[in-house]
Amino acid sequence: MKNILLLNGPNLNMLGTRQPEVYGHATLADVERDFATLGTELGVEVTCKQSNYEGQLVEWIQDARETAAAIVMNPAAYTHTSVAILDALNMFDGPVAEVHISDIYQREAFRHHSYVALRADVTIAGKGVEGYAIALRDVVGRL
Ligand code: DQA
Repeated sequence: MKNILLLNGPNLNMLGTRQPEVYGHATLADVERDFATLGTELGVEVTCKQSNYEGQLVEWIQDARETAAAIVMNPAAYTHTSVAILDALNMFDGPVAEVHISDIYQREAFRHHSYVALRADVTIAGKGVEGYAIALRDVVGRL
């Protein structure tokens, strides 16, 4: 069975309590549970990981070359800063979906630029945590 890797970046472990007016009330556990449930429905296996560390995310993306058919990623603040994450994604051959819970294009100017968007096959922003489901359906459709 094909495996889809869900990666969440820094501060997303605090979902539910982190600025709920921006990110909503669902926790990361809720997001990962719903992602896994949808994966089962779509006939794929999912692996969910979160880290506050850029290098850890880079290593997981490198590992995904051997273990995952597609990546769904919310790189959080590293979206706007990380050439290292972009470089790692550029080594990955399968579909990549970028997710942002908030609409980064309607927020501060520094959030408008995404390095990850240079590689992502699709970017979903501003749909709340429903964006993860949209992204999963999208990448599975590309396999
Ligand atoms: C985010 C948007 C980023 O700008 C921010 O740094 C995050 C979360 C989102 O999901 O809306 O941590 O990626």
